[in-house]
Amino acid sequence: MDSLSNKWTFNVLLCLCFIGVGCTSVEKKIYLHLNYTVPCVRLLNATHQIGCQSSLSGDVGVLHVLESEENLDFVLRTGLHPPYMVILEHQLFTGSIMMKLKNNSSRVAGVAVVAPNANPMEGVSPHTACPNENSGVYSESYDPALAHCNTTLWNPWGNGLSYEEFDFPIFSLKNDNDTRIIRQCYLDHNRVVNGSDPRYPLCAMQLYSHMSAVTNTATCMRRNDINFGITPEYVCDPLGDFNVWATTRPLNNTAKGHKMWESVVIAAARLDSRSFFFDIAPGAQSAASGFITLLAAAHALRNVIQEAPPNRTILYAFFQGETFDYIGSSRMVYDMENEQFVVDLDNVHSVLEVGQVGLRADSRLWLHSDPVSRRNISVDEEVKTLVENVQSAVGTLNVSASEPAFSQPLPPSSFQRFLRSRPIPGVVIEDHQSEFSNRFYESMYDNAEYLSVTYPQNMTEEEQLQFVTDTAKALAEVSTVVARALYKQAGGNQSQLSGINADAQIVSQMLYSFLIQSNNSWMQQMVPADLAGHLKDTAINFYVGVAQQSSEPTHLVQHLLANLTGSVVNVTQQDCQNQRTDESDTESKHMYTYMWVQGAMPPNATEREGYCVRSTVHLSKALSPAFDPLREFTSIDYSTWTESRWKTIKGRIFLVASHELEMVTLGVGVGVLLTSLLLIYVLSSKADILFSTQREPTNATY
Ligand SMILES: *[C@@H]1O[C@H](CO)[C@@H](O)[C@H](O)[C@H]1NC(C)=O
Ligand SMILES: *[C@@H]1O[C@H](CO)[C@@H](O)[C@H](O)[C@H]1NC(C)=O
Ligand SMILES: *[C@@H]1O[C@H](CO)[C@@H](O)[C@H](O)[C@H]1NC(C)=O
Ligand SMILES: *[C@@H]1O[C@H](CO)[C@@H](O)[C@H](O)[C@H]1NC(C)=O
Ligand SMILES: *[C@@H]1O[C@H](CO)[C@@H](O)[C@H](O)[C@H]1NC(C)=O
Ligand SMILES: *[C@@H]1O[C@H](CO)[C@@H](O)[C@H](O)[C@H]1NC(C)=O
Ligand SMILES: *[C@@H]1O[C@H](CO)[C@@H](O)[C@H](O)[C@H]1NC(C)=O
Ligand SMILES: *[C@@H]1O[C@H](CO)[C@@H](O)[C@H](O)[C@H]1NC(C)=O
Ligand SMILES: *[C@@H]1O[C@H](CO)[C@@H](O)[C@H](O)[C@H]1NC(C)=O
Repeated sequence: MDSLSNKWTFNVLLCLCFIGVGCTSVEKKIYLHLNYTVPCVRLLNATHQIGCQSSLSGDVGVLHVLESEENLDFVLRTGLHPPYMVILEHQLFTGSIMMKLKNNSSRVAGVAVVAPNANPMEGVSPHTACPNENSGVYSESYDPALAHCNTTLWNPWGNGLSYEEFDFPIFSLKNDNDTRIIRQCYLDHNRVVNGSDPRYPLCAMQLYSHMSAVTNTATCMRRNDINFGITPEYVCDPLGDFNVWATTRPLNNTAKGHKMWESVVIAAARLDSRSFFFDIAPGAQSAASGFITLLAAAHALRNVIQEAPPNRTILYAFFQGETFDYIGSSRMVYDMENEQFVVDLDNVHSVLEVGQVGLRADSRLWLHSDPVSRRNISVDEEVKTLVENVQSAVGTLNVSASEPAFSQPLPPSSFQRFLRSRPIPGVVIEDHQSEFSNRFYESMYDNAEYLSVTYPQNMTEEEQLQFVTDTAKALAEVSTVVARALYKQAGGNQSQLSGINADAQIVSQMLYSFLIQSNNSWMQQMVPADLAGHLKDTAINFYVGVAQQSSEPTHLVQHLLANLTGSVVNVTQQDCQNQRTDESDTESKHMYTYMWVQGAMPPNATEREGYCVRSTVHLSKALSPAFDPLREFTSIDYSTWTESRWKTIKGRIFLVASHELEMVTLGVGVGVLLTSLLLIYVLSSKADILFSTQREPTNATY
């Protein structure tokens, strides 16, 4: 190395030392990083962008803890140090306050909402009042009187905030320690005392949630395409996941399209939910109550289907991404129409969907059907039969099942996507007659507490897992009704009905696994080792996420359904994982799925005793046809939702000095910089003398 580069190395090192030491020590003194920050992120559809974002370098504002709606005037008009970072107690996270902040966003740097430790009393939902308004069956052309929730407003608590666009960051803070520090910082520095504005230094907060995608899905998908190839840098990804399905009779899954002589009853439920914030979507009533009921019904049917098989096949279908314009069900219908699924729509006899069933008043269930398709006499007859089958399934149970008024349309449901294709007979089971009984639809409060999944004090985790809650008993009753109705609908023998009963213990374990924590001894036994490492000590997040990876709820339901409907086969781990079995039936690998699961840990053993589960459980794409295969990013028939990518999500608080002090600091900084540059120059030019390095000949070859 020559002396010239030696010198430069030395200089650069000198500079780095200066800057490095300076930065870290300053940062330690001033900044406090917030733990557990949950952002609102940007989503895009064919025409709009919704959600929140900060600028690339994060948005900074002086902290203001809002005490009441009247206090908003300080933030929006009178406060002397805008922009403000507004701290909201959850009661103030209302449509009215948020829209005022949104409409005056030049004085608002961002919002942090403090999540409560217990649910509020009054109903609140950030979702729209008419969910999936434009993607269900009720369009102007289907029946103008039923379009746009004209007849029944399903979610009257909905304020629509989840579908607004905010050009500032909004975070949820759930950690008591963080919020205590924030409040203390505000009280110490920013509070208005005796009517006089607070003085510097002020406590400020900075939130980072810059989003890469802008405008709409077509725009961001175009940018993805441009960036493809060079160094792929995508800006957005389609929402999506996988549907989980299984049949009571094994069907050849390699042969797609119409199956002669096959008549299928679809038993459906949805798997996903959302809330205003990215990774809190507990979906207890909106998703879990329905699919857990269906899983338990599938289990209740296992034995009777082996012993007295009905002549129709039951297809259990768990749909993902339904929140975002029915991604999963619209994809399955599309696949059925295009011979990409194991059966086609001609094979579908009827549909029985389990919706929100966790909050029954007076033990009542409501059987919703579509008045438009029922104008056709033959469809109406089939719906009547289905309704009778559900009602006769009640038997001696403490449940009643009735139909709401005939003119009422279906609530938001996957079944609507089948009806968009053709008039298939079907019923959606719900716990509400008209508007939702769920007061917290698609909100962070739709959680275990809301479904009363609670345990006596001082129970260990293992005891809680085994404890049968009242909610589980009630849901098990619904499961029994669903199972018996399905069996009857599939042509099963009336005499078998009383023997079909759902297991409240298993319902309780499922509620615990999805709403309290999936990392428990029961779940660990029935999943493969690689999935076991991803089980969580918290409630499941039911937000669908992006299509590249399948989410935790999908995998858990997949393995639960296999355990509850499948059987254990005696093959080696390797054969199981290769879908290779020495059973005489050579077709079996087209009919069945084999999954090697961890199994239980015997006492005193060091290793689990894994085993192979054979089932008819499969995954199918829940990616909107608008992306694959159609690539119509402005589609009005299929979901076009994408999620923006981002790099940094974080928040921190610190003290800001007054503008004048900042100027002085800057001045001193510039002074120091100039001095050091001068010093460096002097050092460099006199380096030969100072360090007396050997000068190499200038004509040296390298
Ligand atoms: C996109 O989302 C916005 C906001 O929810 C909605 O108003 C609009 O109708 C949606 N566009 C399409 C094509 O679905
Ligand atoms: C909150 O702070 C207290 C004391 O400062 C500490 O004992 C406690 O563990 C902290 N809690 C969390 C969740 O960090
Ligand atoms: C965040 O977590 C870190 C490390 O666990 C801790 O040192 C810090 O005090 C926490 N911050 C707050 C605001 O609680
Ligand atoms: C506020 O005003 C009251 C009386 O007007 C006075 O006693 C008190 O000291 C003042 N507080 C501060 C912080 O100036
Ligand atoms: C009623 O529906 C059936 C089956 O979908 C169809 O074959 C029939 O033509 C329809 N009848 C009328 C009057 O539309
Ligand atoms: C799950 O729980 C077990 C024991 O309860 C623990 O050892 C393990 O680390 C947990 N797994 C995860 C992924 O948190
Ligand atoms: C289902 O799980 C239970 C408990 O882990 C286990 O005893 C049973 O053998 C499993 N059954 C199947 C078919 O996997
Ligand atoms: C499983 O198969 C092995 C070898 O094929 C046999 O030795 C063993 O007894 C079988 N186990 C059971 C429970 O059938
Ligand atoms: C497990 O180990 C303990 C102590 O080593 C022993 O007392 C007990 O009998 C063992 N249990 C079994 C089932 O082997």
